[in-house]
Amino acid sequence: MLKYQMKKLMVATFAIALVACLGSVAFAEQAVLTVADCGKCHSVQPAQIAANGASHQTEIDCQACHEGHRPSSANNIPQCNNCHEGSAHYELKEDCLGCHNPHQPLNVTLTGEHKTVCVSCHAGPNKEMVASPSKHATFACNFCHADTHGNIPSCLDCHQPHSESMTQANCSTCHQAHKPLELTYPASTGSQLCAACHDSVFATLSASPAKHSQIACATCHASKHKTVPQCNDCHGLPHAQSMHDRFPKCGECHNVAHDLNNWPVKKKK
Ligand code: HEC
Ligand code: HEC
Ligand code: HEC
Ligand code: HEC
Ligand code: HEC
Ligand code: HEC
Ligand code: HEC
Ligand code: HEC
Ligand code: HEC
Ligand code: HEC
Ligand code: HEC
Ligand code: HEC
Repeated sequence: MLKYQMKKLMVATFAIALVACLGSVAFAEQAVLTVADCGKCHSVQPAQIAANGASHQTEIDCQACHEGHRPSSANNIPQCNNCHEGSAHYELKEDCLGCHNPHQPLNVTLTGEHKTVCVSCHAGPNKEMVASPSKHATFACNFCHADTHGNIPSCLDCHQPHSESMTQANCSTCHQAHKPLELTYPASTGSQLCAACHDSVFATLSASPAKHSQIACATCHASKHKTVPQCNDCHGLPHAQSMHDRFPKCGECHNVAHDLNNWPVKKKK
């Protein structure tokens, strides 16, 4: 149907209704517009409410919000805070209608940049960002959580992985989205993930016949990136005290942990 025909029909219907109203005024005290009438002239809003009205369908009806009607009542558009008060979210300065269509209140649209509003319900992520500054903390929340409320992006939407074999699921092993520079990881972290950047260490250790090659990177370099263990964290002082006094550095004989002078090949000689 053409827009103008639609308008014509609307006007015609309205006229008929008015005539009907006027007619009934002549006989009865007053003509009453009821909720059942709205759909006769308005199709969009009743359809939206029927599909996605949520509590605005189940708890209230059109007239709870739209009291009166033109021409007798010139402004029948309600304020949200007529009914919603008592929460930080409802006291926001921002335009409620910018995000909520009252006829489908939970189908939130996110245009513009938002942080304050999000934080009014999700305090946690922002606390993390403040406590652990990074470039992510400078972005609006919906720079990442874009378009629809609850959307969670993939890191790979914006970043390249550190190696070809690395997947989105791996990222959270070392990075948290809201504090990406806090590089911590669990003991179960696979050495292949470290190898993405430390390929030569990985190659040296893998080629070593010593028992250290059976140990994961994350077992020795535990929890936090750039943690470096001491040999005696695990071994104590295994040799005679007099020897340790003379050669305080284990590496003087054992070289680096990743190689151990290729132990036990040398030992066999
Ligand atoms: C006989 C047809 C008809 C019926 C029935 C009707 N409306 Fe309307 N309504 C109109 C028309 C036509 C306009 C547009 C008026 C204008 O633009 O000046 C309108 C405008 C509105 C507006 C816009 C606010 C405004 O003042 O511009 C709201 C809200 C509204 N109607 C709600 C309702 C509700 C709720 C019901 C049911 C209780 C209802 N209408 C029943 C024809 C109708
Ligand atoms: C929770 C309150 C609420 C309920 C319930 C509600 N509306 Fe509305 N309605 C609004 C608000 C607020 C606006 C103004 C929206 C805007 O300006 O974007 C509006 C706008 C309208 C308009 C004008 C649209 C326009 O573009 O000018 C019509 C018509 C309308 N509503 C009809 C209805 C009908 C019919 C129902 C019931 C099926 C209904 N509304 C239920 C709050 C409500
Ligand atoms: C006439 C009273 C009334 C008005 C006006 C009103 N609401 Fe509501 N709204 C309710 C009631 C009642 C509920 C259900 C109980 C609750 O969540 O408080 C509700 C629930 C909601 C919900 C949650 C829906 C759900 O099912 O969980 C949202 C979102 C909402 N309203 C947004 C708005 C916005 C935005 C406005 C202004 C455009 C508005 N409301 C205006 C009465 C109203
Ligand atoms: C930046 C977008 C945005 C703005 C602006 C906004 N809201 Fe919301 N609102 C949301 C989101 C997102 C939800 C959570 C919806 C859900 O639970 O799925 C929500 C939920 C609600 C609810 C549901 C009940 C609750 O507290 O969980 C109500 C009522 C509500 N908003 C009212 C308002 C009012 C009133 C305003 C204006 C003062 C407003 N909103 C402004 C995004 C917004
Ligand atoms: C009125 C309160 C409210 C507002 C405002 C709000 N949210 Fe939510 N949000 C919720 C609720 C309730 C859920 C669903 C429950 C849950 O999973 O925690 C949710 C879910 C989410 C989720 C998915 C969580 C998951 O584990 O799947 C993300 C992401 C999210 N919101 C981001 C945002 C962003 C970004 C904003 C600002 C644009 C925002 N929210 C505004 C209440 C809100
Ligand atoms: C740089 C992108 C980015 C920014 C900016 C961002 N997030 Fe997130 N957010 C994510 C990703 C990705 C996840 C999924 C969890 C993960 O992988 O660590 C997430 C998870 C969430 C979750 C669900 C899990 C949880 O931690 O509760 C909520 C809620 C959330 N974000 C809200 C917010 C809010 C509020 C803001 C703004 C203060 C924000 N986010 C800013 C990317 C971002
Ligand atoms: C919507 C895009 C987007 C998403 C999604 C996203 N990032 Fe970012 N991230 C950026 C941008 C933009 C920068 C800043 C780049 C620059 O300035 O060089 C950044 C910076 C970073 C930084 C460096 C921070 C700093 O302060 O130097 C790390 C680490 C990072 N992202 C990891 C991640 C991880 C891990 C995820 C998933 C949990 C993720 N990002 C999700 C856009 C995104
Ligand atoms: C095994 C741990 C680990 C995993 C898994 C990991 N990262 Fe990283 N990431 C790091 C370390 C360590 C740095 C810091 C490097 C530095 O200091 O230069 C870093 C830095 C970054 C940076 C900022 C510097 C740059 O390269 O632009 C981004 C972005 C990033 N990672 C994204 C990701 C993404 C996306 C994933 C998942 C595909 C991921 N990371 C998986 C450890 C990891
Ligand atoms: C995104 C690349 C990247 C990933 C993934 C990565 N690192 Fe690093 N790592 C670096 C960079 C860059 C340095 C600094 C190099 C320098 O200063 O010469 C570094 C330094 C180190 C250092 C040396 C600290 C020092 O003080 O000399 C250790 C130990 C280390 N990383 C262990 C690991 C472990 C274990 C993993 C896996 C859990 C890992 N790294 C994953 C990039 C990465
Ligand atoms: C996180 C604990 C840890 C750290 C730190 C550590 N080691 Fe070990 N090391 C082990 C374990 C476990 C073995 C295997 C023991 C076994 O199976 O008998 C081992 C074995 C050895 C062996 C015998 C190798 C073999 O193949 O039999 C030597 C030598 C050794 N470590 C020296 C060192 C030196 C030197 C350092 C410091 C540079 C060091 N370790 C740091 C845990 C550690
Ligand atoms: C002066 C050289 C020298 C120094 C310094 C030295 N070691 Fe050794 N280490 C040896 C030799 C030689 C062996 C092999 C002896 C053997 O088979 O009994 C050995 C064996 C070991 C073994 C394997 C024991 C076993 O039962 O298989 C460990 C573990 C070890 N050293 C740890 C350390 C640590 C930790 C330090 C520093 C605190 C250290 N060593 C300092 C020469 C040294
Ligand atoms: C048995 C414990 C152990 C294991 C397993 C281990 N490291 Fe180390 N790593 C050390 C120690 C101890 C040092 C300090 C240098 C030394 O004394 O050997 C070190 C030094 C480093 C350094 C800084 C110096 C350098 O060689 O570049 C990096 C980077 C590093 N390790 C990465 C890794 C990676 C990646 C893995 C896994 C592929 C790994 N390490 C496995 C104990 C270990």
